[in-house]
Amino acid sequence: MRAVRFDEYGGPEVLVVEDVPEPHPGPGRIRVAVRAAGVNRVDSKYRAGIMTVKSLPYIPGTDVSGVVDEIGDGVTGVTVGDEVFGATPKGGYAEFAVLTAWAAKPASMSWVEAAAVPLAAETAARAFAVVDVPDGVTVVVNGASGGVGSAAVQLGVARGMTVVGVAGPANHAYLRELGALPVGYGDGLVGRVRELVPAGVAAALDIAGSGVLPELIALTGDPATVVSVADFSAPEHGAKATGGAEGRRWDVLPVVADLHRRGRFRVSVQQVFPLAEAAAAQAISELGHVRGKLVLEI
Ligand SMILES: NC(=O)c1ccc[n+]([C@@H]2O[C@H](COP(=O)([O-])OP(=O)(O)OC[C@H]3O[C@@H](n4cnc5c(N)ncnc54)[C@H](OP(=O)(O)O)[C@@H]3O)[C@@H](O)[C@H]2O)c1
Repeated sequence: MRAVRFDEYGGPEVLVVEDVPEPHPGPGRIRVAVRAAGVNRVDSKYRAGIMTVKSLPYIPGTDVSGVVDEIGDGVTGVTVGDEVFGATPKGGYAEFAVLTAWAAKPASMSWVEAAAVPLAAETAARAFAVVDVPDGVTVVVNGASGGVGSAAVQLGVARGMTVVGVAGPANHAYLRELGALPVGYGDGLVGRVRELVPAGVAAALDIAGSGVLPELIALTGDPATVVSVADFSAPEHGAKATGGAEGRRWDVLPVVADLHRRGRFRVSVQQVFPLAEAAAAQAISELGHVRGKLVLEI
C-alpha cells in the first residue's frame, strides 16, 4: 500500500510516500480502507523528534475515517463495509490502517470531517474529565479555535456551559459561531475575562500551552480546576496536565457523532491535501494557527 513515512527525524521534507506492507488487525482491532486522515500537532512533534517514536521508519497519524475491510478476533458490532472513524496506533497517513477505537460515521459527516474528529475530541473530553466540573458552569478554553479547542468549545456548549474562548482576533467571529464568548490573548487576559464573565470561572482548559497557567489559576481561584494538554509544567503550578496515559476518552466519538447528526457539532476543516502533500500540511500545522483542522484525502 502507499503510505507517508519518515525514517529519520527532521523537517517536513523527511516525509516521503513509499510502498509499504499492509497492516492486518490483531484481536480486538479492525482494519479500514482509509478515505481521509486527520493531521494533528503531535504528528509534527514525532517527526521532528520532539517526541520520540518506538522505531523508524514511522507512519504518522492517529485519526482516520474509512470503510471496514478486515475484522480482528473478538470484535463485535461491526461488519465489513461499515463506515467508521477512529484512532490508529500504527499510522493513519496510509491507504489502510488498523484501528483500536472507532465509532460509526454518521451520514451527516463527510469522510474529511470524520477524520478531523478523533484525537481532538478525545483530548477535549479528557481535559473536561480531569477538571470534573458540572454542566452549566462557566469555563475558559485557552487556544479555542484550533482542533482541540474547537471540540472543547462545542462539548462545553453542548453541556450548557458558558465557554470563554481565547484566540486571535481573526478567529473571534468563528468562535461566536461555535457558541463561545471570544477574547484575545496577550497582556491583560485576566481583566478581559473578568469583564466578560463577572460572576467568575469554574474551570480552565489550557489547550495552547502558551504560558498563561498563573492567569488561568487566578481566574478560577483554584489550581485543581485548571488543566493543560500542552504545558507539562502544570503540576509545578498546582494545576493538572493530561497526556492520555491515565486513560483515553474514546467514548466521546459516538457522542460527537450524535451531536453532529443533530446539527449541534460543527467540524471545521481549514484545508484538505492529497496524501502526497502531507509535508505541506504538517508545515502549516506546526505554525500553530490552524482554524479547526487540516486533513489528508487518500
Ligand atoms: N496532551 C494530549 O493528549 C494532547 C492531545 C492533542 C493535542 N495536544 C496538544 O495540544 C496543543 C493544541 O493542539 P491543536 O491540535 O488544537 O492545535 P492547533 O489546531 O494548532 O490550535 C492552536 C490554537 O492555539 C491558539 N493560539 C495560538 N497562540 C496562542 C496564544 N499565545 N494564546 C492562546 N491561544 C493561542 C490558536 O489560535 P489563533 O490561530 O487564533 O492564534 C489556535 O486556537 C498542541 O500542543 C498539541 O500537541 C495534546
